Formats: sequence, C-alpha cells, structure tokens
Amino acid sequence: MTAGRVLVIRLVSTMEHNTVIIRKMRGTEARRVAEIHTVAFPGYTLSKLGKLFLRVYYHGICDDADGIALVGERNGTILGFATGMMNPSGFYARLLKRRWFRFMVAAVPGAIRHPGFIPRLFGALWLPQSSPVGGTIATLSSIAVSPEVAGCGIGRRLMEEFVAEVKRRGGTELTWGAKKRDEIANRFYQRIGYSETREHVDSQGEGVIEYVFRF
Ligand SMILES: CC(C)(COP(=O)(O)OP(=O)(O)OC[C@H]1O[C@@H](n2cnc3c(N)ncnc32)[C@H](O)[C@@H]1OP(=O)(O)O)[C@@H](O)C(=O)NCCC(=O)NCCS
Repeated sequence: MTAGRVLVIRLVSTMEHNTVIIRKMRGTEARRVAEIHTVAFPGYTLSKLGKLFLRVYYHGICDDADGIALVGERNGTILGFATGMMNPSGFYARLLKRRWFRFMVAAVPGAIRHPGFIPRLFGALWLPQSSPVGGTIATLSSIAVSPEVAGCGIGRRLMEEFVAEVKRRGGTELTWGAKKRDEIANRFYQRIGYSETREHVDSQGEGVIEYVFRF
C-alpha cells in the first residue's frame, strides 16, 4: 500500500470517528440530556426544578408515541438534543397524568429550593393548553448543544433532522417559540432560515417570538 493511500485511509477513518451522528434519543440518555439542558438554560424554570425533574421530563418525551427526541452523538458522547412532540395540545397534561408519581418525587428537591414554582408549573401543565390542536401539528420544545461544541453546526443538523422527523410522521406544521431576550437562539433560527411570525407575552410576562414552518 502506498504512503498516500495509508494517509487517505487514516484521514477518512479519523473523520468518521469524529462525525456527529443525529439519531433518536434513548431513555437511558435522559440524564445526559438533563445535564446539557441545565447548562444551556440557566435560570429557566425547568432548570431550577433540578436535574432529576428534567430526567423524568425528557424520559417521558422519549417514551411517548407522540414525543420526538433526537440527540447529536460523537464517539459515544451526547453533545446536543432536540425534543418536541406531535399533537402538542394537552401533551404535557397527558405526560404528567401518566407519570404523576415520578414527577412528584422528582419535583421535591426543586420544590424545597423554589416552593413558588410548583403550583405554577403543575397549574400550567394542567390548564387547557394554548398549544395548537391537531394530530399533524408539531412543536419543537427544546434544542440545545453543549457549550464546548457551540458554533460547530450541531444545532443546525439537529433542527434539520427534527424537521425531517416531523415530515416523516405526516406533520403539516411545526411551531416553536424563543424568548425575545434570547438573542443567540433567535439569531440561530434566523440564520438557519426561519423567520418570526409573531410575538406574544407569556404567562410570566416575557416576550416570546413565535416561529411556524409549514410543510
Ligand atoms: C441555539 C443553539 C442550539 C445553536 O446551536 P449551535 O450548534 O451552536 O449552532 P450552529 O453551529 O448549528 O449554528 C447555526 C447558525 O446559527 C448561527 N449561530 C449559532 N450560534 C450563534 C451565536 N452565538 N451568535 C450568532 N450566531 C450564532 C451560526 O452563525 C450559524 O449560522 P452560519 O452557519 O450561517 O454561520 C445553541 O447556541 C444553544 O444550545 N443555546 C442555548 C440553548 C438555546 O438557547 N436553545 C434555543 C432556544 S429553545
């Protein structure tokens, strides 16, 4: 074998070794996803409820037939995730009802640290949802990458695969929102080709920019 050929084979195998794969999340990966969430969304309500709560939450999305949960993995390490669901209206209430005991136990540490959150969170989950209604409507609930790999194109690939998965499931519309103050998130969505459709103020008085993609 020539030296050139050896070099090419080495380069190709190194590239394959370093390639980020986007694939469906496994329930056992909820712990790692919870860690990434905590770092990526500091100070957000779900992060404040703690990693145990987040684990139950992401495990629940992953296991639900309507849930969509993707991860970006390189060499066995999860570097980012994108989650959401088909037919979002009432999804969280269904999830909560099905796993109420696990959620309740997982919420204890967060409830001790931030007692005011619990009625707010469970109330919001239980109330009739403002999410769009329909089996072919989908929502992206979270997308995040580990800070050490930010700007490497993983977010873009996660979003592309998420959109492709919604399409595979017969989705006609994908909606999501980003807090107005999240300049990076809004810049990200706009750089990868989406534009804001409207703005609303959420239950906590925060401006939210809404995005809609129609298939
Ligand atoms: C938003 C986020 C998922 C982007 O992931 P990422 O892997 O860093 O993004 P990519 O590398 O795929 O970048 C895609 C495009 O967005 C732009 N972008 C990403 N991060 C940016 C930043 N910090 N500032 C400006 N533009 C940015 C890139 O320039 C790129 O466009 P280009 O390819 O035309 O240059 C990541 O920053 C993150 O996890 N943020 C914290 C969590 C969050 O805010 N999630 C979204 C709200 S739910």
